[in-house]
Amino acid sequence: MMWDIPLSELEYGPEEERAVLEVLHSRWLTMGERTATFEEAFAELAGTRHAVAVANCTVALHLALLGVGVGPGDEVIVPDLTFIAGVNAVRYTGAVPVLADVTSPQDLTISPADVEAKITPRTKAVMVMHYGGYPCNMDAVHRIAQAHGLAVVEDGAHAPGAEYRGRPAGSLGDVAAFSFFSNKNMASGEGGMLTTNDEEIARAARLMRSHGMTAQTLDRHKGHAHSYDVVLLGYNYRLTEIEAALAAVQLRKLAEFNQARAQLVEYYRAFLAGVPGVEIPFSGFGEPDQWPFPARSSHHLMVILLPDDEVRGRVIEGLREHRIQSSIHYPPAHSFSNIQEEARSGRVRIDGLETVESVAPRILTLPLSPSYGQPVAERVAEVIQASL
Ligand SMILES: Cc1ncc(COP(=O)(O)O)c(C=O)c1O
Repeated sequence: MMWDIPLSELEYGPEEERAVLEVLHSRWLTMGERTATFEEAFAELAGTRHAVAVANCTVALHLALLGVGVGPGDEVIVPDLTFIAGVNAVRYTGAVPVLADVTSPQDLTISPADVEAKITPRTKAVMVMHYGGYPCNMDAVHRIAQAHGLAVVEDGAHAPGAEYRGRPAGSLGDVAAFSFFSNKNMASGEGGMLTTNDEEIARAARLMRSHGMTAQTLDRHKGHAHSYDVVLLGYNYRLTEIEAALAAVQLRKLAEFNQARAQLVEYYRAFLAGVPGVEIPFSGFGEPDQWPFPARSSHHLMVILLPDDEVRGRVIEGLREHRIQSSIHYPPAHSFSNIQEEARSGRVRIDGLETVESVAPRILTLPLSPSYGQPVAERVAEVIQASL
């Protein structure tokens, strides 16, 4: 199926093409100077002292969890309504993921009340995910984390450029992870970043992304080192220079992209207002008189709620007939067969997820990309109205 309106587009221009060609001409493909320059620029965006580039966000989450000391015997509270990577990253460490509910149908981020209810003596950390680019209630999360001595890990995959009380996503917990997968606000195919203000977490992440080696191929190439030690168990979680070069260009365009996303979301809200059967989460987000805290979304997703799964199926089909792609973010983690199997043997905890249960069959994600203007929002809204 070739879509007339895909869920998102790769927003690439001649700058991206030039950047990739420069890498090829440089004859250096893996984790070199472009990666280091990109890390510096990203640390500035995230407002952190350190940024460590890695192969993708999933491994950034793995290193983030290891960095705050998560391991076998621990529990980590993670959102049920997230991409499975967040849950899997906890499983890689040998810890038990404990799935938490959403706050409400209006606020689809992790419920601080449910986080608090699920704390046990084994709880080591809480992972928050800024769903769709909308930051979580970080004051509430920190109050709970401080009271119980928990680390806070941010999954910022949706949230580069988002802000909570004027502070950037990526600097709102002990450590954060970002994704540059093809459909993200900044896209380089694959790619990820770990951000932190903690010197020790950053140092460990730099070692672990490349097998715990004390010197890299580039150091040896430059004659800075002729051998190396291996000081801990690491992985090959390195980024390529091609990805770093692409992501660096996308980072320069991010503010403009996020602005265009915000504008498109406004058009959607206007065209869908008053369509019976359509509810739009995060209404009044960040407005002092309507939302519990001031914040700015990076508008990664345009999500609506429909009355139920049957109506949602009808709308998806209506959109498909008009060659408009839609998607579901996400089937809740607890609904997957492997997660249910693991829960039966106590390796994942999936109790008390009533709000996710009721909201998940109603969620639908509409096309959103910086180059889509008013006509896309208008067309999609028309088709939805007709399908309903
Ligand atoms: C919320 C969330 N977390 C983590 C990931 C994993 O990112 P990556 O594909 O870069 O490993 C994604 C991406 O798809 C995501 O949406």
